[in-house]
Amino acid sequence: MNNSVKVVILAAGKGTRMKSSLPKVLHKILGKTLVERVLNAVFKLDYTEESIVITGHQAEEVENFLENTYKNQPVTCILQEPQRGTGDAVFKAHAMLKDFNGTVLILCGDTPLLTTKTLSEFVEAHKQSEASVTVMSAVFDNPENYGRIIRDFSGNVLKIVEEKDACPEEKAVKEINAGVYCLEWQKIAPAFYEMTDNNAQGEYYLTDIIDWSVKKGFKTSVFTVKNNYEIFGINSRKHLAEATKILSSLAIEKLMGEGVTFVSPENTLISPETEIGQDSVVYPGCVFEGSNVFGKNCILGPNTFIEGNVKTDDNVKIIQSKLCDCSIGFNSSVGPFAQLRNNVNIASNVRIGNFVEIKNSTINELTNVSHLSYVGDSFLGKNVNIGAGTITANYDPLTKIKSRTIIEDGAKIGSNCVLIAPVTIKENSSAGAGSVITKDVPAGSLALAREKQKIIENWTAKRMKTISQKEAEEIK
Ligand code: UD1
Ligand code: CA
Repeated sequence: MNNSVKVVILAAGKGTRMKSSLPKVLHKILGKTLVERVLNAVFKLDYTEESIVITGHQAEEVENFLENTYKNQPVTCILQEPQRGTGDAVFKAHAMLKDFNGTVLILCGDTPLLTTKTLSEFVEAHKQSEASVTVMSAVFDNPENYGRIIRDFSGNVLKIVEEKDACPEEKAVKEINAGVYCLEWQKIAPAFYEMTDNNAQGEYYLTDIIDWSVKKGFKTSVFTVKNNYEIFGINSRKHLAEATKILSSLAIEKLMGEGVTFVSPENTLISPETEIGQDSVVYPGCVFEGSNVFGKNCILGPNTFIEGNVKTDDNVKIIQSKLCDCSIGFNSSVGPFAQLRNNVNIASNVRIGNFVEIKNSTINELTNVSHLSYVGDSFLGKNVNIGAGTITANYDPLTKIKSRTIIEDGAKIGSNCVLIAPVTIKENSSAGAGSVITKDVPAGSLALAREKQKIIENWTAKRMKTISQKEAEEIK
């Protein structure tokens, strides 16, 4: 048998119930869009050759997103316009699949909880059984709105009936169609030419391939999932919140099993793509989205928002801060109330204190940026000290040009300095507090760029005298 699998993901539908200007499949759960979660699960199957995404409603937005997200993966978009049903959607891929002699795995773009493990078991079961088509099912206490799996007395599948087309006996069936299929393309493809829209919704139903295959005498199988929640489809904001909760709880449970403490798991949201090392402690109010790796023995939170792409070494402390796209070395600390964003690299034993913002910068070992400072487009050497309230003025709003600030090893910047970039503060030099530094500072020197202090002697007494004279005149 041919081992290759091509994937078709249906994502052309409107998603009316989301009540959103954003296409449904571009809504995010813990930092990743719905369609991305589906595709990522698919990519981890080692035999997938190519993924075809059927777009329709707001196709351009979905296509742009996929193009930017999957630059090096084989994802092709095909437009379905108008959207005439799930069967019509798959049929749009027939030109691309014409000569394909393998298995086509069909999924929906709005089922983000399906795991690679389940998909892999599903494809395996399909191949083992040598069926022409296998459909994934689940058994629900409340099967409302789903298509029902109709079997004969011996348990063989006969067809799938949509709720809107079902008679009362069929509606009573609790086994539902998950909307995930494996089909041997060359065998099942003719079914798409014979489909009609003769049903309650006037649509071409993909589910009709089951009935077609049974009638042709082809082997037709059902694979029932173990974890019902995996087939959960997102149709509304309520579903989005429920799916977020499920994914986060599973991630937290797994991490606790690996030796991470969650002080209050129910008040914490963690993406499945977040790794946390043993003996780390996560305090309440943390929200970690996207892909991240934290080392061992870290203190994370409370109330820390991680937007993704954060990597830390061991013994790192991040308190009440917002981070994305940064790396932090051993024994360094960040916050409270710090923001690190857009390519920040922090070495070991660094202290980033309260109300500090750092953007696109490298900070080397043993350097302190302790309070109320902004460091942007900068390189800070080792053992640098940045006094409170220091600003790197990296942006010229007239030219819109951003320039770099370089502060070499051992330099000390006094409190409340403004460093006007481009500028270099050489090794072991100092800038006096309150200086506005516009020129490079040579190694080992002190730069002072502020008014010299003036002393007016006996000023208080003189002042008091003028005030009381005035008062005396007013009384008169
Ligand atoms: C479908 C199944 C139903 C199953 C359920 C599982 C059919 C006829 N019914 O119903 O048996 O229980 O999924 O969730 O297949 N789409 C397109 N183009 C279209 C129509 C839909 O791409 O013309 C996409 C949607 O974007 C969505 C998926 O197909 O991702 C499913 O469509 P939807 O309308 O949600 O089908 P259901 O009514 O849920
Ligand atoms: Ca649906």
